[in-house]
Amino acid sequence: MTRFAPSGPLRGELRPPPDKSISHRAALIGAMTDGPVEVAGYLDAADTHATLAALRELAVEVEATDRSASPGGVDLRVHGIGLRGPGERFESGGGHVAIDVGNAGTLLRLLPGWLAGQGRGAWILDGDDSIRRRPVDRVAEPLREMGGAMECREGRLPPLEVSGSALHGISYRMPVASAQVKSCVLLAGLQADGETQVTEPAPTRDHTERMLSAWGARVETEKLRTLPTVGGGPTSRITVQPAAALRGAAITVPGDFSSAAFMLVAATIVEGSRVRLTDVGLNPTRIGLLGILNRMAAPIEVEEGPEGVEPTGAILARHGPLMATRVHAEEVPLAVDELPLVALLGCFAEGTTVVSGAGELRHKESDRIATVVDGLRAIGAEIEAAEDGFAVTGTGGLRGGRLAAHGDHRLAMLGAVAGLASREGVEVEGMDAAAVSYPSFESDLRALT
Ligand code: S3P
Repeated sequence: MTRFAPSGPLRGELRPPPDKSISHRAALIGAMTDGPVEVAGYLDAADTHATLAALRELAVEVEATDRSASPGGVDLRVHGIGLRGPGERFESGGGHVAIDVGNAGTLLRLLPGWLAGQGRGAWILDGDDSIRRRPVDRVAEPLREMGGAMECREGRLPPLEVSGSALHGISYRMPVASAQVKSCVLLAGLQADGETQVTEPAPTRDHTERMLSAWGARVETEKLRTLPTVGGGPTSRITVQPAAALRGAAITVPGDFSSAAFMLVAATIVEGSRVRLTDVGLNPTRIGLLGILNRMAAPIEVEEGPEGVEPTGAILARHGPLMATRVHAEEVPLAVDELPLVALLGCFAEGTTVVSGAGELRHKESDRIATVVDGLRAIGAEIEAAEDGFAVTGTGGLRGGRLAAHGDHRLAMLGAVAGLASREGVEVEGMDAAAVSYPSFESDLRALT
């Protein structure tokens, strides 16, 4: 049990740890290239360690090169084995190669896209108790349509067995707006005969497309609908051409907006606070929370910084009174990992904050509609769950009490932030889960108090 007492103003400057989504991709797509790729500031956390361990199972060599200039990061050299490497290096006669993805949903959903198109080889992806509850039929289905050979437990859950096959290009309409599914199909598309298209119902994070284009793949994105229409935002179609090889280039991973978000929200709800976050990734497909905070009238300022493969910048957050807002389906993917924080903000806002069209939250590291609603209610929030979201009414603050993290890193960090802003403090059960994405979270947070 870790206690977070009510805090005075939060002050200072902080660089959040490296981006988890981009780190997974830099290692995984780096391994698909021909030759070494330098990755500066790879996230040094449990989730991204799982990706490196998985790559080692595929006989990919990964070296730690230097102490990283990025706090919470390591500098790596990933020795790419080429698009066909896993099949070529597969030793037949040994059965399936077991791959432990730990708690990492991104690894679970992206890696099959590479493995499915290998001419030979067989792999089984499995992980912890939480991963075993997360659906994989969402990637098995499109990969099967492409000619992939996939088996999963009860038709939809891990362990996921992938046997290497020859793939053909497809045109796939994703039933859910998921960057993981999109990325999986695009990685498979590199190895297919003919082009592959993925249509997304709402824009999702585009780190895979950016990295693939930077490393020589032909990937194009078309916006399909630009006029605002009732019940949906613009959709896009991403087309990838088969590739003979990828050419990696050095990449620096920006700070993780989703980790920075905890500090941003802490500064917004703890009276008198002023916190500056530097070197944060500002990819437009990740920063939906900034738009939501803006509507809530939070005094947030953004300073744009250098743009490489990904845009970056600094964010200044200060405490201020908040107004309730509504978050609809088309905005959900742009803030999907930050929606628990929107619930917390809602506790401090005037009026009722409603999030809808967010049924995907039920398939995260925990059922985040249930765990956020139970967790916040236990510490005094007026919050109701819906099938696809929640509604929270501001009551001028939070009492405090005990919050169970359910093994979910984002819930643990949410509890800590709630504690600082509460009247009586919050005891978080399972704070160690933060190590999945942000091992130095507690010390970073305490450094601001
Ligand atoms: C991620 C995509 C999102 C997000 C997850 C990371 C990614 O999941 O919630 O934390 O790196 O592609 P979905 O694609 O399932 O929405």
